[in-house]
Formats: sequence, C-alpha cells, structure tokens
Amino acid sequence: MGVVAMWEMLKEAIVAYTGLSPATFFTILALALAFYYAISGFFEPPPPPPRIVEREVLPPPVEVGEITEEELKAYDGTDPKKPLLMAIKGQIYDVSQGRGFYGPGGPYALFAGKDASRALAKMSFEEKDLNGDMSGLGPFELEALNDWEFRFMGKYAKVGTIKKTVAATDGPAEDSSQTEDAAVKDEGGPSKNPDEYAHPKEVAVEEVAKE
Ligand code: HEM
Repeated sequence: MGVVAMWEMLKEAIVAYTGLSPATFFTILALALAFYYAISGFFEPPPPPPRIVEREVLPPPVEVGEITEEELKAYDGTDPKKPLLMAIKGQIYDVSQGRGFYGPGGPYALFAGKDASRALAKMSFEEKDLNGDMSGLGPFELEALNDWEFRFMGKYAKVGTIKKTVAATDGPAEDSSQTEDAAVKDEGGPSKNPDEYAHPKEVAVEEVAKE
C-alpha cells in the first residue's frame, strides 16, 4: 500500500471516528499539543534549589578560663550541650564550628577535648602523641605546630588556657619525662604567661630555627 493510499485511509478514518474534517482535526491536534507543552512547562519540577548548608546557630564562645587537661576532656563533643574545645600550646580554642572535623565520628575527633600540640607537630594520630607535651620536638615539628597555632588563632575563638598540673594529681603519668620537665619548669611557681607554656629548651630551638 502506497503512502497516498495510507493518507487517504487516515483521512477517512478521521472523518468516520471524529466527525471532523482532517484539516480541523489536525488543527485541533496541533493546538492541543502546543497547549500541552505550554502548560506542562508550568508544572515541571523546579530546578533543585542551590544546596543550603544548614548552619547551626552556635552560641557565642564561652570562656572556660584556666582548666586542666583532665577537665578539658569533658569538652570532646560527646556532650552536645557543651562546646567543643581543643588546645594547642596550652591555649584552648572553641572549635564548635568545626564539629564536622572534631565532633564524634569526625576525622579529627581524636583531638577534641585535648591539647593536641604533640600530635599536630608530628602530624601523628597516635594515642601517645595526643597531648600537650612538646618536649623533644625538632625545629620543623615546632614550626608545623606554630603554623597550626596560627591557623587556629585566625579561625577559632580562644576561650582559655591549660592549667599545668603536678602530675601526681592526675594519677600515674604516662610519660615520666613530662613529669620531670614539668617539675623542673614549675620550680618558680606556675607561669602566668601562656607563651611560656613551651618548654624553655624548645623555645630556644625554635628561635634558632627562625633565625
Ligand atoms: C592523608 C593526609 C591528610 C589529608 C588528605 C588531610 C586533609 C584535610 C582536609 C581536606 C582538611 C580540611 C581543610 C579545610 O577545609 O580547612 C583537613 C583539616 C585538618 N587536618 Fe588534615 N589531612 C591529612 C592529614 C592530617 C594529619 C596527619 C593531621 C594532624 C595530625 C591533620 C590535621 C588536620 C586538622 C587539625 C584539620 C582541621 C583544621 C581546622 O580546624 O581548620 N590532617 N585535613
């Protein structure tokens, strides 16, 4: 059957079934299609809105003053009502806005509630380095630590300082050298200047490295 014959059949069918002339039928069909596309455009699902990162409104940082490393542990993020704190070189920062990093399950959760100086200086995640003991760090490690400190100073609010404790009050010290160092250092009473938190020996090394 040729195309012409098919066309004739189609026209007859249109007339038979719709009672409309083929021209009217196709006109209505075209209008209906145009109308459909015009209308369906309105009902298309709107493009996805730009992803709004939900930012929790955080309470303003609260000063904790001078607390011990032991007391700092309470601020490791396990209690969502408490701010998330972390210390570098004895300076405590409110890192609550970095909950993604330091909160439970975060990649750096192990630093939360601790003075992470040693770990940051050595780029280490080892348990034995998760403390504020800076003894024996090399010049590059101290420089890395200073870079971290600089970053934290710029990004987070400083809310307190670590109170150096006589090791005996915190139970058996893991690292005896730390105890000795602390004992030697604290001879003249606790230092009031947080910058003096660094062991004098390391400060010297650091200064040599900077020159
Ligand atoms: C495979 C190695 C590592 C990769 C790929 C990596 C990657 C990253 C990335 C992408 C960020 C986010 C940076 C930002 O958005 O500001 C970050 C942040 C951070 N990294 Fe790493 N990291 C690595 C190793 C380490 C190590 C060894 C340490 C320390 C022991 C460390 C400590 C941190 C800390 C503390 C932050 C958060 C800084 C802040 O609060 O702004 N990272 N890291």
